Amino acid sequence: MAPQIRDATHRDIPRILEIERLGFSTPWSRESFERELTLPFSRLTVAASENGKTPLISGFLCRWIVAEECHVLNIAVHPDFRRSGVGAMLLGVAISEARAQRSNVVTLEVRRSNLPARSLYRKFEFEERRLRRNYYGPGEDALVMELQL
Ligand SMILES: CC(C)(COP(=O)(O)OP(=O)(O)OC[C@H]1O[C@@H](n2cnc3c(N)ncnc32)[C@H](O)[C@@H]1OP(=O)(O)O)[C@@H](O)C(=O)NCCC(=O)NCCS
Repeated sequence: MAPQIRDATHRDIPRILEIERLGFSTPWSRESFERELTLPFSRLTVAASENGKTPLISGFLCRWIVAEECHVLNIAVHPDFRRSGVGAMLLGVAISEARAQRSNVVTLEVRRSNLPARSLYRKFEFEERRLRRNYYGPGEDALVMELQL
């Protein structure tokens, strides 16, 4: 069954952390995710499907909506569920909501070496705007990408 996108709760944090650790070499901490749930301008959403009685979370997305900008801070999909449209669903919902809330731009940073993620963003017509050299450490540049709404 196709997953539904919903807001994360504290109960989702262990699974979010598991996905985060499988997705990134320098993962966010539990405290970072807990803090996002308390910030009024932050939204942490998950892709969840029912597996019997237990909801199974396959991915998550975290964004801030500040003034007229929606900034995507984090997105990851569990390796078992990649390439099945979950990342696109999470991002598509975030963009639709940003549009509905009258944001005029969606921004994000991505490692220049992260070709799967760059391909995902290009699919949604994000444009590469700037390069931040060594943003993620020596030799790990960030690309700033933007989607005008
Ligand atoms: C990037 C990521 C979130 C994509 O999630 P996903 O659910 O696998 O993506 P989808 O199945 O929705 O794919 C949507 C599009 O993304 C692109 N894409 C996704 N994975 C790709 C890959 N391995 N290689 C090339 N393009 C890829 C494609 O354009 C794809 O469209 P297509 O299927 O029509 O070709 C996932 O690979 C991930 O969790 N990576 C680790 C964490 C990470 O790097 N997050 C981004 C930080 S900026």
